Amino acid sequence: MHQLTKPESSVSSVDRNAIAQPSLSDQFSRLRAQTDALAAPLSPEDCQVQSMADASPIKWHLAHTTWFFETFILEPYADSYRAFDPAFKVLFNSYYNGIGEKHPRPERGLISRPSLDRVRQYRAHVNAAMLEFLATTSQAAALHSLVTLGLNHEQQHQELMLTDLKHMLSMNPSAPVYLEAVAENMVATKSATAWSSLTGGLVEIGHDAEQNQQFAFDNESPRHQVFLRPYQIANRLVSNREYLAFIADGGYSRHDLWLSDGWDRVRFDRWCAPMYWREERGAWTEFTLYGTQALDLDAPVCHVSFFEADAYARWAGARLPTEAEWEHAVSAADALTQYFGSRWQWTASAYLGHPGFTVAAGAVGEYNGKFMCNQFVLKGSSSATAEGHSRVTYRNFFQPEKRWQFSGIRLAR
Ligand SMILES: [Fe+2]
Repeated sequence: MHQLTKPESSVSSVDRNAIAQPSLSDQFSRLRAQTDALAAPLSPEDCQVQSMADASPIKWHLAHTTWFFETFILEPYADSYRAFDPAFKVLFNSYYNGIGEKHPRPERGLISRPSLDRVRQYRAHVNAAMLEFLATTSQAAALHSLVTLGLNHEQQHQELMLTDLKHMLSMNPSAPVYLEAVAENMVATKSATAWSSLTGGLVEIGHDAEQNQQFAFDNESPRHQVFLRPYQIANRLVSNREYLAFIADGGYSRHDLWLSDGWDRVRFDRWCAPMYWREERGAWTEFTLYGTQALDLDAPVCHVSFFEADAYARWAGARLPTEAEWEHAVSAADALTQYFGSRWQWTASAYLGHPGFTVAAGAVGEYNGKFMCNQFVLKGSSSATAEGHSRVTYRNFFQPEKRWQFSGIRLAR
């Protein structure tokens, strides 16, 4: 299950290195069952709706993660594999031009057929073929890493299922409850902010694929040197209470706090609070996966865009950390908390390739590299991130106006 039910300390890279890896077949079965479990409380109608162009229907996520194994592993490598339905090749292709045609992303909610039942049959068909393939194939290193990529890909979609579902349910005036037991705010932020001081200098960040056999996406490599000036970083995330003070001080009505594009967005979209916040007769509530709740003032602020994080930091007399500052601090500063399992943390760094980054040959090379334009890096992981999917070198990325992910703020100065 997801970190929505786990403490953040359960996902350190140290823990993961110490635990013997289960077989690839076991990892596959467990992960696929986790995805099914996320959709289990939902009706077919819940799984059909697409609430905005950025979000995808749950049914599409269930099919597309299956399509990934079928397209990149079974079709090229399993001689006896027969496609479940040739039409799915286009329907459930997300963005791989090297594979061929694809159905437009904003129109995924219009795919009323295949039915949810048929998508579940598709999952079962590919599960059976994958397990037979994994049991009967000598897993050369290249194939092993491709299957592991498919597993990590599905973990990313598990988080997207929760973020997309939350947005979809939030559009329903009856504020439906996804699960009673879900806790998005289990990490409290009661202590005053303390600052960790780092001397900086020449430090190393990024994933060293030769020295470290743990899985990492291609965009985390290569490990490389970065020069940092001395800096301070906050030991915890910005809380709802602190963010409310920014709002009360006119944060959304002062142009001097905002980047130009951010100020345009404030005015055009009439932003006046984080996504999912509502003020009714002076009381603030927040829509969550467990329904509408009174705003928890001690919880880390969530669902803010890069523009809001940046404006808040300016108001607070601080700034956002760069990616290198964040990564170095989490590796070197003992006092930091809430870096995994709470909120994704916006950085001031544009999402670009690390120096020496190369794109893999073939369609699978489209996974990360072609998105290195007009986006910012987020570090850490969130309460919706799959268990075991967090590491220091991880690079999440979104456009600066997006705020439907579980994104929050850590300050630096
Ligand atoms: Fe995908």
